[in-house]
Amino acid sequence: MKFFLDTANIDEIKQAIDWGLCDGVTTNPTIIAREGREMREAIEEICELVDGPVSAEVLATDAEGMIEEARERASWADNVVVKIPTIPEGIKAMSKVTKEGIRVNATLVFSVPQALLVAKAGASYISPFVGRLDDIGHDGMLVVEQTAQMLHNYDYFNAEIIVSSVRQVAHVIRGLMCGAHIATLPFATLEKLFQHPLTDIGLERFLADYAKMQEELGR
Ligand code: E4P
Repeated sequence: MKFFLDTANIDEIKQAIDWGLCDGVTTNPTIIAREGREMREAIEEICELVDGPVSAEVLATDAEGMIEEARERASWADNVVVKIPTIPEGIKAMSKVTKEGIRVNATLVFSVPQALLVAKAGASYISPFVGRLDDIGHDGMLVVEQTAQMLHNYDYFNAEIIVSSVRQVAHVIRGLMCGAHIATLPFATLEKLFQHPLTDIGLERFLADYAKMQEELGR
């Protein structure tokens, strides 16, 4: 499973790169707004840092506007992937720009039929928002699991699943179990993947035992 960082925060991205755990980045207008930056400037800086796809979302809601913005965003850097929302106008725009070779991340996917539509429209990435589904009492990961099965059944789709709106480590684990290709993680969730109390206790004991032996030997 590849890890994308779901952030536009440069320090977080640099830290994940240092760990060797940043295969790409996803942003959306909310994430960019959180950093208080213009989208183009932020995306260009992230694209320089990251050796992998970086998602930049369109703001238009009509197909013509989305197509224009998709072409513009794709010109910002070679690793830009254009995020387009899964609405009828978005499907129209996806069908058009993917034929021009622009890579699309279909965003705001909440159901398997929507995943099918964006796969048919040529999206390279399908982003089911699992946390937001959980928030309204659904089982968000079920959409990921059934979409993974769909891609397996119809192997002519070239799309990869990005488990999105990740809120907990369990989302990553269930993604792994069904073969989801990518998880896009808020930095705090990436940090949680490291954590296990027995690792900390074990390390403390290893170091204490060795230090004690050295002390006993007078070193
Ligand atoms: C994914 O590409 C989205 O940017 C993101 O995962 C949305 O997550 P949220 O529901 O926590 O805003």
